[in-house]
Amino acid sequence: MIELLTLTIWLLLPSYTPNNFAVIFGGGTPIDMGKKFRDGRRILGDGKTFRGFLFGVLGGVFTGIIQYGVENIFGFSIFSTLPLPSFLILSSLLSFGALTGDIFGSFVKRRVGFERGRSFPVLDQLGFLVFAFLFASIHPAFGTLYTPDVILTGIIITPILHVVTNIIAYKLGLKEVPW
Ligand code: CTP
Ligand code: MG
Repeated sequence: MIELLTLTIWLLLPSYTPNNFAVIFGGGTPIDMGKKFRDGRRILGDGKTFRGFLFGVLGGVFTGIIQYGVENIFGFSIFSTLPLPSFLILSSLLSFGALTGDIFGSFVKRRVGFERGRSFPVLDQLGFLVFAFLFASIHPAFGTLYTPDVILTGIIITPILHVVTNIIAYKLGLKEVPW
């Protein structure tokens, strides 16, 4: 049980961290270039920038590289069952997928008239994960690492982790609101 939980978190880290890197390093030109959709609302909004996307993807891959190194130092093999180049492709797919899901989420939020920053439960917490899984599923090793129990555990724990980390960030004074 605990083993499945920690394994799942480990396998999902390269898809969890990209948005944090985007928050830290984002800003500048928005991906939609400020353009509006035919409904008169922004296509994506100012919260989705090129810089956030680029550094977010790099951040997810960086996370994976650190994990690969930690596995080698501490002598366990999850990601490092793969040769490094193959693993770099896997972590890129997870990271790229997560941020593409994030963009998709903003597109949907703008279409239903939610302004930037407003939370959309479920979509905010699972959209990125579904896209990360879909993108990574083209990797030949996906099925051996991301078994059905890991995927199901990921879908269950991700919204819980989201709520818990936001409450902690609020208590630490890093966030204005606890959600
Ligand atoms: N960010 C970015 N580029 C991205 C994703 C995120 O620059 N591709 C940065 C933005 O500064 C954004 C912050 O990270 O405001 C938080 O990301 P997110 O919660 O996804 O965006 P929101 O501002 O909440 O906008 P939205 O309502 O569209 O989700
Ligand atoms: Mg948001």
